[in-house]
Amino acid sequence: MMRGTRPRREPGPLAAAPPAEADGRFLADVVEGLGRRPKALPSKYFYDKRGSELFDRICTLDEYYPTRTETALLHAHAAEIAGLCGRGTTLVELGSGSSVKVRALLDALDEPAAYRPVDISGEHLLLSAARLASDYPGLRVEPIVADYVEGFALPADTPPERTLAFFPGSTVGNFTPEEAQDFLQRLGRQIGAGGKLLIGVDLKKPRHVLEAAYDDALGVTAAFNLNLLARINRELDGTFDLDRFAHRAFYDAGKGRIEMHLESLDDQTVTVAGVPFRFARGETIHTEVSYKYSVAGFQRLANGAGWRCVRTWCDAEGLFSIHLLTFG
Ligand code: AVJ
Repeated sequence: MMRGTRPRREPGPLAAAPPAEADGRFLADVVEGLGRRPKALPSKYFYDKRGSELFDRICTLDEYYPTRTETALLHAHAAEIAGLCGRGTTLVELGSGSSVKVRALLDALDEPAAYRPVDISGEHLLLSAARLASDYPGLRVEPIVADYVEGFALPADTPPERTLAFFPGSTVGNFTPEEAQDFLQRLGRQIGAGGKLLIGVDLKKPRHVLEAAYDDALGVTAAFNLNLLARINRELDGTFDLDRFAHRAFYDAGKGRIEMHLESLDDQTVTVAGVPFRFARGETIHTEVSYKYSVAGFQRLANGAGWRCVRTWCDAEGLFSIHLLTFG
């Protein structure tokens, strides 16, 4: 891309919006989830500071193939993707985290007009955005603090045909297929007809490969899962004893998904903000689903949400896929 040709703008007013969690929603969601049968907690709460650090470590594990495979696919095909997008693209990244993978695209795109990372974690977002802006001096970097699942405001300055949404990491797998279809349709309507989406999707594969990726030998994924209880203790005055819960991850081939749970190792009562919750020995809290798709299966889901497939790329081993879609 061209550097140093455009003045850098300050982040817009959207950057000052408070994150959705700051308003007692975390407590309400925890009390509601632990009151269910079976018990469940929303996976979006994994990503506090400690959780985000643990997730970054997961991404470097031998067993966790998605990150390195997707990153390699992005580098291998960035020039072709850039050619299909054309000049002056505005890139909108959903759940941008540390904004690492997007650099492969920014390096290849022809004079990108702007980079708009959307993330719920405001502090982390603004730091990552500042770092990225200093590495790409000609680029307008405009962070948007929002929960992208709830919807977010995009400046109306970009025609849909010049907009590329980027949703990597197979984060779409953390929705059920029905939720995913609904979400993709809403995203398409928000961007508009002719808008594009580059999305990373993890593929179905033998159980032992999947289960190792979600239950690694070093115990990083276990620590990531258990950190949800530690976060409840820290932020909501919880009394979880982390030694009395264990990480469980298994592949349900019928549903095509990994499930993560936290299993109570005893009969016990835990309180959260003074509210008691009973656990039987062996009872679990369901903390995450991670759906795996076939290429054809994902394309069908995308079609059902109003997106057409422009191109799909997979690695030679068939571990992971990235799809360039266009809406309408
Ligand atoms: C958030 C979709 C990238 O489901 O693979 C990693 C989260 N959970 N290990 C996934 C996760 C356990 C991850 N993504």
